[in-house]
Amino acid sequence: MGDIRERPEPVTESITITDNRTGESIEIPITDGGVSASEWSKLLPGIWFYDPGFTSTAACESSITYLDGEEGILRYRGYPIEQLAESSTYLEVAYLLLNGELPNAEQLAVWQHDITHHTFIHENVRKRFLEGFHYDAHPMGMLVSATAALSTFYLDAKDIFDPVSRDKQIVRLIAKMPTLAAAAHRFSVGMPFVYPDNSLGFTANFLSMMWKTAEPRFDANPALARALDVLFILHADHEQNCSTTAMRVVGSSHADPYSATAAAAAALYGPRHGGANEAVIRMLGDIGSMDNVEAFVESVKRGDGGRLQGFGHRVYKSYDPRAKIIKRTADEVFEITGKNPLLDVALKLEEVALSDEYFTSRRLYPNVDFYSGLIYQAMGFPLEMFPVLFAIPRTAGWLAHWQEMLEQDSKIARPRQLYIGAEERNYVPIAER
Ligand code: ACO
Repeated sequence: MGDIRERPEPVTESITITDNRTGESIEIPITDGGVSASEWSKLLPGIWFYDPGFTSTAACESSITYLDGEEGILRYRGYPIEQLAESSTYLEVAYLLLNGELPNAEQLAVWQHDITHHTFIHENVRKRFLEGFHYDAHPMGMLVSATAALSTFYLDAKDIFDPVSRDKQIVRLIAKMPTLAAAAHRFSVGMPFVYPDNSLGFTANFLSMMWKTAEPRFDANPALARALDVLFILHADHEQNCSTTAMRVVGSSHADPYSATAAAAAALYGPRHGGANEAVIRMLGDIGSMDNVEAFVESVKRGDGGRLQGFGHRVYKSYDPRAKIIKRTADEVFEITGKNPLLDVALKLEEVALSDEYFTSRRLYPNVDFYSGLIYQAMGFPLEMFPVLFAIPRTAGWLAHWQEMLEQDSKIARPRQLYIGAEERNYVPIAER
């Protein structure tokens, strides 16, 4: 696997700045819209770029996902997210992210076959590891730990520069995520483990492992399996988000992909990232009814109601294109499951916020999490599973970035700091403190 396309010609320009300390003019080259920090440091030695949260830093070059937050554009390998959500499947998109091109029929068949035949997990992962958790363990905590544990089951994963081994780990990780996820859920609610049914498609198999209660098989509603597939497409990648950055940072030390994926999943566990759709459901539940929406919005504006969960985004300063697609998917799902009673509160909240100067002036729009939780809840997933449902498809994106980083022969991630601590001082024995 790996991107086989040629890198486009770099676009180079430059700016000239004057160093007021010396009066010297310095020409700074700009390539593809970025200034090389290491080149800049050579010109201005001893001056660091201070950028906590990386709001103004491009940490890498990437040809995987294009995102224009001003215009609300998201493309995987050049293909608009709207077209992929309409016509593609999650596994096809995973192949695209990893290989740079859409598969032909034969390539897709081989890829689907490979994924389907790596869905089983080692019996010790299940019996000794997953079933060793405390009875009320959070499924996302279980998923993070079990993913890390997989590295001890596949010692060939250490051969990260062997393309054959690398491809095998990529297939294993994408294939086993739904199995681990469903196992974590079933354990957390006291239900016995269900083996994958490899006669089923990717999402239908996951739904079967989640909900099966009787032999011989569980047949998910095809429309719900498709809706989940669309949600998986929308969540498959989002360029240098927090968890993908964690994947690249850990991967840059040449850790094996299971350990790096576990680190990425751990980043996703946080409420500011993968936990936001759970926060949306809790917020909508607290609001309770459409009548309370305006008062709630006022409390957010005053600062005593917390943030409007599912609103705002570091990059999108217009409507998140994924949120638009999700809104449509929600209607399709609710036709089958019945409407989530919190939908009316959500719609009213969106309407009130989008006509309020506080939100429009700060360019706060619904993000992907605003409606996704409503769908997951209507499909029967407990709130604790929401970050897990994010981690399953994002695994393809994480691995695409991991692979791209290895092929770029990047340096180990090791930023500098601006030290603001104590000057040198002498140790004081405890009796004298
Ligand atoms: N509700 C109310 N006010 C908000 C919100 C919100 N959801 N988001 C941002 N603001 C306000 C801030 O108070 C700030 O206002 P100020 O200038 O008066 O101080 C301004 O908008 C800018 O906010 P920042 O925190 O600087 O924006 P940042 O880009 O750092 O944060 C974030 C982005 C974390 C997503 C933020 O919008 C937020 O907390 N949203 C709610 C949580 C959420 O939905 N997260 C999911 C993100 S998508 C994902 O990870 C898949």
